[in-house]
Order: sequence, then structure tokens, then C-alpha cells
Amino acid sequence: MNKKIEVLFDEKKIAKRVKEIGSQIDKDFPDGDLVVIGVLKGSLLFMADLIRAIKRPLRCDFLRVSSYQNDQDTGVIRMEFDITQSIEGKHVLLVEDIVDSGKTLKHLIAHIKTKDPASLKVASLLYKDRGIDNRKLVDYLGFDVPDRYVVGYGLDSQGLYRSLPYIGVIDN
Ligand code: IMP
Ligand code: MG
Repeated sequence: MNKKIEVLFDEKKIAKRVKEIGSQIDKDFPDGDLVVIGVLKGSLLFMADLIRAIKRPLRCDFLRVSSYQNDQDTGVIRMEFDITQSIEGKHVLLVEDIVDSGKTLKHLIAHIKTKDPASLKVASLLYKDRGIDNRKLVDYLGFDVPDRYVVGYGLDSQGLYRSLPYIGVIDN
């Protein structure tokens, strides 16, 4: 059973922020093909809401990496599966759930750049301040979070809590 959650960002707050990011992306992105790439599984809900907040035409793709076991940073990033369409010469928006150490994001940026997109921007729902300056890697940020383990709205703890419509920390 799910434990009690201390809510950091409720449904309403998330919806408002996601709409703002979508409008900003509509303003910022130049003409040309746009491919939005979601990093599974954590970006699931953010991706679904964000693409509906972006009004210009776009294509979706997904990739999956694993880097964590039992909420612990293993430091090892494994590509479980990759996108299935060519992004060469196209504008790419990479959609992440959270930037923590930044290792996953750096790995993914390098990986996507090998595929020669016209441009690459990053949207992350959350940024965890761990005193490492990775903020510049993120072009569109939902919210800053404290250095605590957060769950909900796509983010999990051992596979649970992804389906919560809000973001919070587990009350122990
Ligand atoms: P990084 O490589 O340390 O930046 O970790 C990035 C990945 O770890 C994210 O994409 C998440 O999947 C996972 N992660 C890091 N912190 C949290 C958290 O607080 N809650 C849930 N997942 C997290
Ligand atoms: Mg992730």
C-alpha cells in the first residue's frame, strides 16, 4: 500500500506550470520538424501533459535508461532501448522527470547529439539542488526541489507512486 505523502506540488500547480512551459516552447522553437523524446518511465505523465500544451505539430519518441537500483545511485547508466526514428536535421526536445546528479542527462545529451539533430533542448519536470551546477543543462524547468527523494506524477520509489497526480515526499 502507498504510504502517506507530503505534497510539494499539487495537480493544479503542476498543470499551470506545464501549460506555461508548453507556451514558451511554442514561442521559442523555430520552424521545422520537432521530435519530442520522453525518457521512460519517469517522464510518462509530464510528457503526456506537455505535448498537449505544445500547439505546434510534433512527433513523439521514447527511450529508456536505467541508472538506479533501490533508490540508490549506482552510477551505471544502461540504455535499455533507444528511439526508433531518425532525428537527423530535426529539432529535438528531450523530456526528463528529474535531474539529480545530472549523470543521466549528460549521458543522454551526448547520445542524442551523435544522431545529428538540428538542435537539442531539454525540458525537465524537476531539478534537485545538490550543489552541482547542472542547471544550465535544462532549458525548460518545471520546479526546483530540495535534496529529498520525491515521488508522484511519473516518479517512482521501487516502481510505486508513479500514478499519483501530485508530486511529494514520502512521510516516514
Ligand atoms: P541522475 O542521473 O542522478 O541525475 O538521476 C536521474 C534519474 O534518477 C532520474 O531520471 C530519475 O529517474 C531518478 N531519480 C533521481 N532522483 C529521484 C527522486 O528523488 N525520485 C525519483 N526518481 C529519482
Ligand atoms: Mg528518469
